[in-house]
Amino acid sequence: MTIYPQARLTQLPIQDIAFPSSFAADFVSEFVKACELDGSGNEIYHSWKVCIMACRIGKKLNLDKNSMKELFFASLLHDIGGVMLDGHVIDMLTQIPDVYGQKSNFRIFAHPHRGETILATFPTFRNISEIVGTHHEFYDGTGFPKGLKGDKIPLCSRIIRVADAVDIAAQVHSMDNSDEIISLLGIFSGEEFDPEIYEVFVNLVKNEGLFDAIKSAEEIEWNMAALKKEMTDHHLLSSPDTLNRFFKMIASIADNLTSSEYNHSLRVAELAVQMAYLMKLDESEILTIRWASFLHDIGKLAGNRSIYRKKDKLTDEEWQTVKAHSQKSYDILNKVSGMDKIAYYILYHHENQDGSGYPEGLKGEKIPLASRIMHVADAYDAITSNRPYHRKKQQEEALGELKKNVGRQFDPNVVEVFSKFLMS
Ligand SMILES: [Fe+2]
Ligand SMILES: [Fe+2]
Ligand SMILES: [Fe+2]
Repeated sequence: MTIYPQARLTQLPIQDIAFPSSFAADFVSEFVKACELDGSGNEIYHSWKVCIMACRIGKKLNLDKNSMKELFFASLLHDIGGVMLDGHVIDMLTQIPDVYGQKSNFRIFAHPHRGETILATFPTFRNISEIVGTHHEFYDGTGFPKGLKGDKIPLCSRIIRVADAVDIAAQVHSMDNSDEIISLLGIFSGEEFDPEIYEVFVNLVKNEGLFDAIKSAEEIEWNMAALKKEMTDHHLLSSPDTLNRFFKMIASIADNLTSSEYNHSLRVAELAVQMAYLMKLDESEILTIRWASFLHDIGKLAGNRSIYRKKDKLTDEEWQTVKAHSQKSYDILNKVSGMDKIAYYILYHHENQDGSGYPEGLKGEKIPLASRIMHVADAYDAITSNRPYHRKKQQEEALGELKKNVGRQFDPNVVEVFSKFLMS
């Protein structure tokens, strides 16, 4: 049996991919917003606020178009290395305001480098990755992780440092009193902050109402929408290969949530592609299934992430949260133009053949074929991996388990194709 060479998918003509030029800005902003929900599921908007402030500073400093783009993406993603933690990194930072304390807290200390490492896997974001890795460096060299000094720290990182510190201070002090924040942070100009950048920030607050842009959810949403319009990025659309790498990077963030799911989404994609190929689906459909598989679990990052690491039995309420992940993945992607088909396939990747699945209890053919394929690939990878609730099983036993659940959980035709593929 011929195995589908996935490299072929990276050579499809670009016109087969219908993503608008606003895709990267839409995707990254929605993804980051979902990663930053508080315990009750409300947006905290930390990275959005940092991004809005940083871009205002960048414009005042007359950064060129390319640097503005890097500043935009780096400020949205600056805390992405903290996304595997249970809470948000700013909760820890407000509890440990002193930089020496921050450096000795491993989780705080490690988050810039973790972010840099994640982003470095996507070559288009090479500069952005470096900015993220240095966003806690201090102008006087006392920051972390490397202790870089002055203009050895990338300009965008120095800008983010000011915007980040402002939002952290605003967690403790009221934003309505801008004088209070300015006098509180002013003492760090020349130490934590580049004095020139800090001065630009103060002018923006005093003369151009910078804090008004971030004072309410409505203002934040409005300002982000305006900013996104300026951030069209054709680089990400230059080839399916670039998009593949981008989605793989995003997949690795969700897969890193638990050590047992390392590379899970990548393996699901590999298996799903082979099935789609054997079922003679056309290449653009195979590519869509591949990307949907990469992204199927990103909803796990939205909200309470600690349940995915819990070793004990989950409570009913926790189960409901786990089950909501396919809906959450859909909600993130459905807001990104060009992702509707992928979002739709992901929404149904836990529907069962007999209607007993979730979120809608769809039955049989009512479930999109792509979702039925992903469901089998997802289940097979879970059965053949170690998970907190079971030891991994070997191929034959795993296949037996899939076959036992044909008609109830899985589409008989898909399992038959999968079985042929495994036995080939
Ligand atoms: Fe940070
Ligand atoms: Fe931050
Ligand atoms: Fe899932």
